[in-house]
Amino acid sequence: MENKQIVIYVDGVFDIIHSGHFNAIRQAKKLGDKLYVGVNGDESVIKAKGPALMNNEERTYMVEACKWADKVITDTPYTPSIELLDQIGADYSAHGDDMAVDESGVDCYSEIKKAHRMKVFKRTEGVSTTDLIGRLLSIGLIKEGLEKEAQIYKPIASKFLTTGWRLKEFCNDKIPKPNQKVIYIDGVWDVLHPGIIHALELAKSKGDFLFVGIYDNETSSQIYGKYSPVLSLQERVFNILAIKYVDDVVIGSPRKINEDMIKSLGITQVIADESVIDSSLVGESDPYEIPKQLKIFDTIKAREAVTNDILIRRIVERKNEYIEKYQKKQKKEENYYLTQKEAMAEI
Ligand code: CTP
Repeated sequence: MENKQIVIYVDGVFDIIHSGHFNAIRQAKKLGDKLYVGVNGDESVIKAKGPALMNNEERTYMVEACKWADKVITDTPYTPSIELLDQIGADYSAHGDDMAVDESGVDCYSEIKKAHRMKVFKRTEGVSTTDLIGRLLSIGLIKEGLEKEAQIYKPIASKFLTTGWRLKEFCNDKIPKPNQKVIYIDGVWDVLHPGIIHALELAKSKGDFLFVGIYDNETSSQIYGKYSPVLSLQERVFNILAIKYVDDVVIGSPRKINEDMIKSLGITQVIADESVIDSSLVGESDPYEIPKQLKIFDTIKAREAVTNDILIRRIVERKNEYIEKYQKKQKKEENYYLTQKEAMAEI
């Protein structure tokens, strides 16, 4: 008789999806054979946590791009029930070891725990939506001339740890096969949004193997200004490696694509989104000059970006609400690191 496959359900808000979320989804997948990911619906999130920066459609679109998700269920309740698990055919629910509570302070997973259908994995240190909101809020306040106020939310250097083991877990362990069409697309790939995911999807659809070049922090600041990037190079690498359209990355890729790298990586086509080809630096020679000369350059037109500026505007428009949410969540997070930090090992 065939062994029954264990189906895990992991859910979350996944607002401004980040490397901690991807590491959660990765670990949850290891707890069973198949992974269903639930994206909590807007209304449910507002009730439990306050407004999310990205709406249900945007958050779902991004979770669907994660390579460890076998199925994505949208608009799920913040508090999952046994009925929900049965209805979708999941054996267990999984969550990080920072347990979630509802608006009345009740553990969202108490019913599931009582039924012995709960699995727990280690929360990833040093990265959270709260932390990202803090970074964006700080930039927003500085731009409004409120330097002093911004200091409070000044991003502490990211505590996210890039260990070799973790990097290996995110990598695909793949190289292009002979005769495969090898596509290359580069960029900063800062705070993830649907425009980035769509660009990667379109780039992959042009060939068989997709290399994504990721600029280092300095190059990013040179192109987009001193507040770019919001995410460190390491955080951006983990995000991009979690996306199912991506086969491999070039970490700290050169701004100007040269012939050597085209040969070394076996690139057969270089792709750029229409929105970025005009954003070259003043006085800079065209970064795509060589692939254009070699006639291996093509463009795509991805869906509209939710740029950092748009996110900052969304935060600044509801500044007080976000400050309150930030302070509340920050306390919870500090408490988590003090009390639970060493509770379990990452899988
Ligand atoms: N998670 C994690 N590591 C992080 C952040 C989240 O393992 N650094 C896990 C949570 O434990 C949960 C899942 O990701 O199992 C979805 O989390 P979500 O509901 O989106 O929200 P938060 O836990 O509040 O994440 P954040 O602090 O980033 O808002």
